Amino acid sequence: MYPSASSSHFAAATMAAAAALLLLLPALSATDDWADAHATFYGDETGAETMQGACGYGNLFDQGYGLDTTALSVALFNQGWSCGGCYAVRCQGSAYCAPGGAPATVTATNLCPANYSKPSGNWCNPPLRHFDLSKPVFLRLVTDFHVGIVPVQYRRVPCARRGGVRFEMRGNRWWVAVLVFNVAGAGDVKAVAARGSRDGRWADMSRNWGQIWTNGDGREVGQGLSFRVVAGDGRAVELDSVVPQGWAFGQSFEGKGQF
Ligand SMILES: *[C@@H]1O[C@H](CO)[C@@H](O)[C@H](O)[C@H]1NC(C)=O
Repeated sequence: MYPSASSSHFAAATMAAAAALLLLLPALSATDDWADAHATFYGDETGAETMQGACGYGNLFDQGYGLDTTALSVALFNQGWSCGGCYAVRCQGSAYCAPGGAPATVTATNLCPANYSKPSGNWCNPPLRHFDLSKPVFLRLVTDFHVGIVPVQYRRVPCARRGGVRFEMRGNRWWVAVLVFNVAGAGDVKAVAARGSRDGRWADMSRNWGQIWTNGDGREVGQGLSFRVVAGDGRAVELDSVVPQGWAFGQSFEGKGQF
């Protein structure tokens, strides 16, 4: 009798506690949406090693991202869908955290790959959440970069960009690819459609890798192009007559619109 009375008493108390927690949870998630991760850095102060990368961007200075960038672990990278997204990252819980704990805001421009052959494991293997920051950003978060790795907290934040959404023409005459960059707001892109000046109708592009989108053929050659871009948060913008008919590979063009 006694054990069962005791356990039902315990169950009632547990349920009351659970109910109280459920009431608290919405308030907690609304005010404290920081999640835990770790951070390291790659490359040196010049950031040369952070250029190009698995999102398909090129010279990050020319493209407006500069050195406030990060590579994401496999889990956060989400096969490239996270490219262009912005994160506030703050050092938390290490004696090496810079005083004040001000967060850095970075754009995802690269992948921190998994490596299963390291005996001690790898910070970027799934399911770990990890930021491999540019060295200049890491230097702002810590008092001594020799610490190598620190615990951090992070959250998605809106991206601030100058000017309109931009498009760079890549590929060749049989397979045209378009890099979509300088996306404000959510920063990441989940759908792109293009309309050729000659075709006159919208065609959905598919994401090839990073932020590089294609129709899978060369239909864009010799046509002016308009674009419809859907950001990761579902917001869409239409950018008319972005690319002139006489475009050339390697050129980039700015749309007259932004998120
Ligand atoms: C993975 O880690 C091992 C052991 O540290 C190293 O020798 C190897 O080069 C790494 N592989 C890659 C692709 O970085």
